[in-house]
Amino acid sequence: MESDKLRVASTRAELSTALTSRSATAATVALVPTMGALHDGHAALFDEARRRTEFVVASIFVNPLQFAPTEDLARYPRTLADDLALCAQHGVDLVFAPVVEEMYPGGEPEVTVEPGPVGAILEGATRPGHFRGVLTVVAKLLNLVRADVAVFGEKDYQQLVLIRRMVHDLSLPVEIVGAPTVRHSDGLALSSRNRYLSPEQRVAALALSRALRAGRAAGPTGSVGVLIAAGDVLAAQGIDVDYLALRSTDLTTDASAADATTGEARLLVAARIGATRLIDNVAVTVGSGVELPAMS
Ligand code: PAF
Repeated sequence: MESDKLRVASTRAELSTALTSRSATAATVALVPTMGALHDGHAALFDEARRRTEFVVASIFVNPLQFAPTEDLARYPRTLADDLALCAQHGVDLVFAPVVEEMYPGGEPEVTVEPGPVGAILEGATRPGHFRGVLTVVAKLLNLVRADVAVFGEKDYQQLVLIRRMVHDLSLPVEIVGAPTVRHSDGLALSSRNRYLSPEQRVAALALSRALRAGRAAGPTGSVGVLIAAGDVLAAQGIDVDYLALRSTDLTTDASAADATTGEARLLVAARIGATRLIDNVAVTVGSGVELPAMS
């Protein structure tokens, strides 16, 4: 998978030149948008992109538009040298790493992408404006890269759902691929934010994936059982829960409103471990009594 041909573009003009001058055999282009601080979860996205296309572009851009004034944009980890090494190891052909002025010449854009009602719940309720910022930058990146395929992790499940919705509603000519969450062997989902956890906090954070596993295992008992099982694990660990929610897979409906809900659903959690806010989610089959799928 190692690549000795990684190119880096920091301006839109360089990006355009690199895309135009790519090999004639590289017919289709995949984009993996990132904010850097790359880890093995991102590497899995690069590998998925490589399986699907001949030319893989990774963008590395800490997007100020998706940070609220209360969130510490300046504190977001920036590790460009390590990021480029990981990209090269995983066969990325081109990295687009612009500065803010290159992405938003003239300052914050006046025309942005509104995420609609699904953007206002869960993460959107705690982080107003977050998904407007995400969708706006993703739309810009898809246009700049002229991507045929774009790969996103299921770890940010609501983001993935909203990007699919944007592509559908705005008829954008790109295929969106969701890749399963990558986990440490003890269950903790890989995240750039894990680096902020002390050893004790990391142990406490395991309650999130344990709770999701417990919820998923309780699927055959119904939606109320799922939420009780997951909630009990979080409560036993004294976790400061922001939300624990069972929703339809497209997130449009609350799957916990009635115990009559059956079928595929998504169990999502957000919690604060010390000063660090973590999110995780898992697929749940509710009320079917069938064998449960592997955790993703
Ligand atoms: O998931 C992320 O890292 C970001 O939200 C994204 C999709 C790169 C947009 O800035």
